[in-house]
Amino acid sequence: MKKAQVIIDREYLIGEVDKRLYGSFIEHLGRAVYEGIYQPDSPFADESGFRKDVLELVKELQVPIIRYPGGNFVSGYNWEDGVGPKENRPVRTELAWSVIETNQFGLNEFADWCKLAGSEIMMAVNLGTRGIEEAKNLLEYCNFKGGTKYSDLRRSHGYEKPHNIKVWCLGNEMDGDWQIGHKTAKEYARLANETGKVMKMLDPNIELVACGSSGSHMPTFGSWEATLLDECYDTVDYISMHQYYGNRDRDSANFLACSVDLDQFIRNVVAVCDYIKGKKHSKKNIHISLDEWNVWYHSMETDERPERWVQHPHQIEDIYNLEDALLVGSMLITMLRHADRVKIGCLAQLVNVIAPIMTSDTGVWKQTIYYPYLHCSLYGQGSVLNTIVKSPIYEAKEHGEAPYLDCVAVTNAEREELVIFAVNKDLQEDMEVTIDLRQYSDYGIKEHIVLHDQDLKAVNTQEDPNRVVPKKNGCSSVSDGILTAVMKSKSWNVIRLSPN
Ligand code: AHR
Repeated sequence: MKKAQVIIDREYLIGEVDKRLYGSFIEHLGRAVYEGIYQPDSPFADESGFRKDVLELVKELQVPIIRYPGGNFVSGYNWEDGVGPKENRPVRTELAWSVIETNQFGLNEFADWCKLAGSEIMMAVNLGTRGIEEAKNLLEYCNFKGGTKYSDLRRSHGYEKPHNIKVWCLGNEMDGDWQIGHKTAKEYARLANETGKVMKMLDPNIELVACGSSGSHMPTFGSWEATLLDECYDTVDYISMHQYYGNRDRDSANFLACSVDLDQFIRNVVAVCDYIKGKKHSKKNIHISLDEWNVWYHSMETDERPERWVQHPHQIEDIYNLEDALLVGSMLITMLRHADRVKIGCLAQLVNVIAPIMTSDTGVWKQTIYYPYLHCSLYGQGSVLNTIVKSPIYEAKEHGEAPYLDCVAVTNAEREELVIFAVNKDLQEDMEVTIDLRQYSDYGIKEHIVLHDQDLKAVNTQEDPNRVVPKKNGCSSVSDGILTAVMKSKSWNVIRLSPN
């Protein structure tokens, strides 16, 4: 059995976890909205057409913030199409995903739904086909109290009180040539800055996210961020990162090492932010909004030749296995390890489309990735400890040296809890992990949750929804202030400790 050692100290803090780290994303794409959160003709729908069974799971996940309405979709979207009486809303060709959009669901429905889900809205404006004027009008519609054209339009639609949306994304993936209205870094930087300036003139309380790179692989990565921040540094609060991984080469060890890549990606973005900070002699920090992240590759082949111009087809519906859940766990650990700079995270997406929650006409089920996301959302609140991990390493084909053990500790003074999140990526061996609890030596184990299966490729389906589910059967104990845990090969672990 391999051995690893973890070192923590109450005083060595990385930073507070922003609860928005565990956000998610709903795009008008595939069956995320229609048949996902909204399906008026379903027996599971409430009087507003919202799927009650889906809402239950979203509430269980305690999703703090949800990005909407895209994604690629937003770059061709007219928000006005989705408000007001439903019978007057236009049916449109939707070019990002080559489908028909009926607009029967729009921002007011989303605001109602978010209220029920207990989530905040993170709204994206269209900087693909549109610009300053529309972004300003949308903000006025959403956040202005009344007595003006767009705030009164909202009131006339039955929403007397403003939605008060705090976080706004200035477009989506503008660096990608697939994006409607794709721009060069300079073109986007100017537009984002001018749009952001006007939006903050109207509502200085909002926070703005500028589009960073669509992935670490983008050829413009690095220079895109520098050009953008050179222009927008004073106007925006966050820069976005998007990152999806896949195991196309069927090399699981390499796939599980993708968290090393994410870690480097975050470090690089922080470095560019701080370079511009120094250059501008600024006192302000730009933080990171990792507002699209997940595993995405299973569905790509099927999606290559989609049927065009149909309504909400099955699109991008990855079915996740255990190894995907392990990587999602490792990505969450990586985000937590950068909690001082990564403030917002959006697991992309929430329902049906590369999602932890799946629906059919007869019910819902939880994919494997649901569980690490749930555990971090519920137990990963508080302060992240600078967690030193002394783990054996392996050589991953693309990512170089990777530790077998990914681990982070989060402490919560209010709840009097210390929580250890860990992934053992070893595909063969269990691992003995020891942690000197130091100032937590009087803490005992409340539970040790494990997500594991002998088969890395095991999945949950509607027929067999409980194939890969967490069990409270982890093997760990505390003796003389030392926590010793045996972490199964290929497992996600959550160890919750509190004072004896
Ligand atoms: O989440 C699916 C798509 O991935 C989004 O629309 C886009 O922003 C990204 O490329």
